[in-house]
Amino acid sequence: MKLKKLLFAAALFAVGCATVPQQAELPVYLNEDAPLEERVEDALQRLTLREKIDLIHAQSKFSSAGVERLGIPEVWCTDGPHGIRPEVMWDEWDQAKWTNDSCTAFPALTCLAATWNPEMSAKYGMAIGEEARYREKDVLLGPGVNIYRTPMNGRNFEYMGEDPLLASKMVVPYIQNVQKNGVAACVKHFALNNQEIERHGVNVVVDDRALYEIYLPAFKAAVQEGGAWAIMPAYNRYKGQHCCHNQYLLNDILKGEWGFDGVALSDWGGVHDTREAALHGLDMEFGSWTNGLNWGASNAYDMYHMAVPYMKAIENGELTTKELDDKVRRVLRLIFRTAMNTRKPFGSMNTEAHLQAARDIAGEGVVLLKNEGDVLPVDLAKAKTILVVGENAIKMMTVGGGSSSLKVLKEYTPLEGIQRYVGDKAKVVYERGYVGDVTGEYNGVKSGQDLSESRSAEQLIADAVAAAKKADVVLFFGGLNKKEGQDCEGADRSEYALPYGQNEVIEALVAANKNLVVVNISGNAVAMPWVEKVPSIMQGWFLGSESGNALAQVIFGEVNPSGHLPFTFPVRLEDNSAHSVGEWPGAKDVHYTEGIFVGYRWADKQQLKALFPFGHGLSYTTFEVGEPEVSKTAIKQGGNGKITIKCEVRNTGKREGAEVVQLYIGDKESYLPRPVKELKDFAKLHLEAGQSGVAELTITEEDLKFFDDKKHEWVSEKGEFTAYIATSAEDILYTVDFSLK
Ligand code: BGC
Repeated sequence: MKLKKLLFAAALFAVGCATVPQQAELPVYLNEDAPLEERVEDALQRLTLREKIDLIHAQSKFSSAGVERLGIPEVWCTDGPHGIRPEVMWDEWDQAKWTNDSCTAFPALTCLAATWNPEMSAKYGMAIGEEARYREKDVLLGPGVNIYRTPMNGRNFEYMGEDPLLASKMVVPYIQNVQKNGVAACVKHFALNNQEIERHGVNVVVDDRALYEIYLPAFKAAVQEGGAWAIMPAYNRYKGQHCCHNQYLLNDILKGEWGFDGVALSDWGGVHDTREAALHGLDMEFGSWTNGLNWGASNAYDMYHMAVPYMKAIENGELTTKELDDKVRRVLRLIFRTAMNTRKPFGSMNTEAHLQAARDIAGEGVVLLKNEGDVLPVDLAKAKTILVVGENAIKMMTVGGGSSSLKVLKEYTPLEGIQRYVGDKAKVVYERGYVGDVTGEYNGVKSGQDLSESRSAEQLIADAVAAAKKADVVLFFGGLNKKEGQDCEGADRSEYALPYGQNEVIEALVAANKNLVVVNISGNAVAMPWVEKVPSIMQGWFLGSESGNALAQVIFGEVNPSGHLPFTFPVRLEDNSAHSVGEWPGAKDVHYTEGIFVGYRWADKQQLKALFPFGHGLSYTTFEVGEPEVSKTAIKQGGNGKITIKCEVRNTGKREGAEVVQLYIGDKESYLPRPVKELKDFAKLHLEAGQSGVAELTITEEDLKFFDDKKHEWVSEKGEFTAYIATSAEDILYTVDFSLK
């Protein structure tokens, strides 16, 4: 019997060997050992015009067609950038009602940027890439790296802050690790997508210096260092052309100057014209509106600008196949890298490791903004009654905010996280304090929470105050939420102040109990008129599935905060350059009159003290940064020289912690105006109590360059420079003079 089975298996194996062709016998495009470009050319010459056209536009809300005849599979996209979006219907935005599409929600990208730790980006990219892969997605619609121009932008939470260097350093490992899973990262929204109001029409007027020095570097790093396989051109216009078909951005810069070989994949509904899309560098069209009559009908895909209208224009000679073939080559490259990559790993979903990654990133991104009292970390040996106040302590934040909205298996709210952490060590009391948004639904996904409340605003405050008087510690969780008019796609913020009367609640609480901690949950800076009165303030971000657990670990001191702000908190909105000298929001044209002076570059220029500066973040321990040791004080222009600055960092406190040492550089004299200083390097050191480490920072000629818009090139100018060793844009510890000779 056993022998029979064995013979049968051997026979099967022999048949298998005979019928499955060896790699070398396969048509070139199917042979994964053949060079990529040979495979692309081989596939291209096998395609009919109709098949080529089918490859470059959507066939459903989130997929494009493959070529059945040749075994070329479909391309499946997913949002992005904080988790894998639940499935929607084939032709509609409504939920497909799958029961197996809940994901792990990772912290919002503002939190990731606040870790100032590229290792956290790598961890993030790997985990979200594994989830995308498990759900059999080929393109992850993220990460986003639009620069934080104003705190009013509703989508800032999806981006990596105001500084081009920080965003560049943080975006690269995210992309590299997503793509290790055979899933393309699609970096968005390229470019100048800094407002949601009028996002489909507004035309950004910006000078080339600001474009190249501020708004493009993170995209360039994503493409050249991260090796992104896809990029998503934005909705807005630049130089009068929509970014989805923009000669300057797509053809000249992205594909020309940067040599991008991937796919420019339109934002959903961002394409407006066949001819422009054909000629101005777009490769794939998604989410376009139909003619209005056939809204949602399946044949509507034929009406896409890059579908039948494009084919007809080629057939009647208005357009040629030259551009089409370039697009198809790029799409084939994408497919070979993702959908047709049989060697990619299988991915995984909702694992303990993913939750751990979410918790680690969240814990490392939380920023301790102020800590003057004796409240934080809360000592459970002393605090016996802990009062938690605020809607954001109980509100799920993974639902809402637009396309990044998620469906999670479980989200721990701050109150739950605190209750779990505290157990029976103390009494945890909750008071609402204010009522904000009780809806909790996005696109058919419901949080399932009942947040209804019948008490009046006055009563809510009175009840919270009464409870605060009896508590040892009061933890207020407020800030923004993902509702329209706050941190949300499709609309910008309606005010810089905290909404829903939260300022009154905070004032009343601190008057009742001085042991108050305010945790601001948001992806944006907010005004804090009570800043002097409240002893402890924390920036809590939108932290995803593990939100409450991560916050509890920081509040009770299990995790020592080491996040630093990726953007400036201005005291007043007028202290932000877009609102002071620039324009925001724009309707038809929006002028970025502030030019390169964005964020701390503006604060420095105007000598404005921030509410909390860029790069700021405290710890429960203390650090001493020693005098810088400088390898040399000059580098030669045109050489490969570099200056190394080493600082000893000592943890002088009683517990482990991490410090971020920041290197800014200022040019003493230049023929074009330059910022007082700009971030050029940083180092994050994790140190045990009493331990020392060395922060090593480097300066090369590249770091000294600025973009000369007349010459249209990056130039360095001989002369004197200052290096600032700092722990925030306002906390300068040392300066070092050096020169470029
Ligand atoms: C957003 C993109 C998103 C796409 C697909 C658009 O509205 O701007 O960021 O990836 O929808 O959901």
